[in-house]
Amino acid sequence: MIFWYSGCGNSRFVAEAIAKGISDEMTFIPECDADNYEIGEGESIGFVFPVYAWGAPKLVEDFVKRVKWQGKAAYVWFACTCGDEMGHTHRDFKAVLAQKGLELEGTFCFQMPETYLAMPGFHLDTPEGAECKIFAAKAKLPQVTEQILAHAKVVDEIVGPFAGLKSGLIRKGFNANMSDRKYRAGEGCIGCGTCENVCPLGNVRLVDGRPQWQGHCTQCMACYHHCPTNAIQIGSYTAGKGQYYFRDEYKTT
Ligand SMILES: Cc1cc2nc3c(=O)[nH]c(=O)nc-3n(C[C@H](O)[C@H](O)[C@H](O)COP(=O)(O)O)c2cc1C
Repeated sequence: MIFWYSGCGNSRFVAEAIAKGISDEMTFIPECDADNYEIGEGESIGFVFPVYAWGAPKLVEDFVKRVKWQGKAAYVWFACTCGDEMGHTHRDFKAVLAQKGLELEGTFCFQMPETYLAMPGFHLDTPEGAECKIFAAKAKLPQVTEQILAHAKVVDEIVGPFAGLKSGLIRKGFNANMSDRKYRAGEGCIGCGTCENVCPLGNVRLVDGRPQWQGHCTQCMACYHHCPTNAIQIGSYTAGKGQYYFRDEYKTT
């Protein structure tokens, strides 16, 4: 089974490609309310998610911690997507899995187009840069699929500089301050409801034709990136920064 989460589609693309390659099923973490998971005989358990603040998204970690994992997995792996670097995601997620009796053996990292823009200094990739990352990820997928099928012991990670600080203090601050108070729909909002439809957590509700955020946001930025009129802004740092989400046509181009 592959447990996955994605805000803007990068990790969904990777999860679907791996699922196809290894002929496995997928479960979308935000929609899985099971408290027990019985691991089948010879079953592999995989997780696919974007890196948020140099770690696994809190909702992914919380999911692993909540579920009672029964039985022994034949192989435990995860694949993360990140704009640049994953800090100590491997070390930290391995520890979360270990607490639950899941022994991580395969770690895979895909650089994909950047989605985080809500702070100064964070920008989208250029269209060429985004295209290069998607091209490289597609080229890497067959090898990763083979390694998962072979239950290979792999640590493929892009740690990056100052990882201790980023995956430590900064990540802690990010997880403690995940709020949607700064999300706004401006004049350009046409009340189409795209934001409501794309939010992976059902955190956006259209009230009198305007989006209202319900207070359990993960900062995935799907509402911002998918808005057809670019009317959604997050504080004062997203204006003019452009939009990106993984479109179906990228699979074939
Ligand atoms: C809240 C947030 C935090 C992020 N933190 C990181 C990070 O620490 N390192 C990094 O390289 N990319 C970071 N990114 C970029 C995403 O990991 C990357 O774009 C990912 O592929 C998005 O996946 P998705 O489309 O499945 O949501 C972050 C993106 C968001 C929205």
